[in-house]
Amino acid sequence: MADSFVLNTGARIPSLGLGTAKTEPGTVGEAVYTAVKAGYRQIDCAPAYRNEKEIGLALKKLFEESVVKREDLFISSKLWSGNHAPEDVPEGIDTTLEDLQLDYLDLFLIHAPVRTEKGAVRTAENYISLDVPATWGAMEKLYDSGKARAIGVSNFSCKRMEDLLAIARVTPAVSQVESHPGWQQTKLRALCQSKGVHISAYSPLGRPGSPAFKGPSFLSNPIVISVAEKLQKTPAQVALRWGLQMGQSVVPKSTNETRIKENFDIFDWSIPEDLMSKFSEIPQIKTLRAEFVVHPQGLYKTVEDFWDGEI
Ligand code: A2P
Repeated sequence: MADSFVLNTGARIPSLGLGTAKTEPGTVGEAVYTAVKAGYRQIDCAPAYRNEKEIGLALKKLFEESVVKREDLFISSKLWSGNHAPEDVPEGIDTTLEDLQLDYLDLFLIHAPVRTEKGAVRTAENYISLDVPATWGAMEKLYDSGKARAIGVSNFSCKRMEDLLAIARVTPAVSQVESHPGWQQTKLRALCQSKGVHISAYSPLGRPGSPAFKGPSFLSNPIVISVAEKLQKTPAQVALRWGLQMGQSVVPKSTNETRIKENFDIFDWSIPEDLMSKFSEIPQIKTLRAEFVVHPQGLYKTVEDFWDGEI
C-alpha cells in the first residue's frame, strides 16, 4: 500500500497524518516533533484548536535540525468561523501561516458549516447563515495564488458537498470528515470517489476515551478484535489500516510516543479481502454528533439540521 494518495491537484497527500485537535497546550509541540521524527509527513492543524503557534515552534525546530525540509511535509489547516466573508478569507490563512511560521499550506479547508460575525465568540447562538459559494470563491483565489496548494471542506454532509460541487470552479481536493470502521461514510465516499475528491478521516480511532462520547468504542467490537488477533496487530492499527484500504488518509491524534509509533506501523501489512468484508457488519455510531452547534435561537435547532439528516 502506497504511503500517499494522489489528489485531484496532482499533489500527493501522505496517507497517515497527526491530528492536533483538542491537544493540550504544552503537549502538541512535542507530539508533532515526535511524530515527524517517527516518520509522519502530514500534520493536520486548525486555528480552532488554539495551538498553531506551538506547532509552528515545533516545525521550526524540525527544519532547523534538518530532520525534514518544508517540502517533505504536508501541512493542512482550516478556515476560522469568523473569517467566512470573502474579504476575510485571506486574513484567515495569513493568521494561520504566521502562527505556523510557514509561507504556504498544502491544504486549506473550510472547517465546518459554521459561520459567525468577524470577531464574535464561536457559540451556537452566534452562528449566522452561510454563503458557501462566496466563501468558496475566496478559497479558490487562495488556490490560484499558491498560498493554499489544495482547498477543501470539512464536516460537510453529502447534500452540502453536492451543492458545492455544483457551483465550484475549483473542485474541492479533500473532504475531511469523521470516518472509521464504526462510522464508515459509505454514501459520502461513493460521492467523493465519483467526483475525484479525496476523503481525509479525522477521529479514525473513534475518539477512544473522549469524555464527549459515551457510546461503545468500535475498538472493542468483536470483529475488530478478531481481525487484530488474526493479523497480530492492535485494534487501533487495524482501524487505521482499514481506512487506508478504503482509499482515505487518516489523521489519528496522540500525544503518547508509544502510540504515535504504534499508529505509524500500518504500511507493510494488509487486511485480506475476506476480513475486510466483515467490517460491514459493525454497528454504525457517529461519535462527533456536534450537539454544541445546536441552540433554540441559533442557526441549527437540531443536530439533524447541521448534518442534513445524515446522522
Ligand atoms: P493518547 O493521546 O493518550 O494516545 P481519534 O484520533 O480517533 O480522535 O482518537 C484520539 C484518542 O485516541 C486520543 O485520546 C489518544 O490518546 C487515543 N489513541 C491514539 N492512538 C491510540 C492507540 N493506538 N490505541 C488506543 N488509543 C489511542
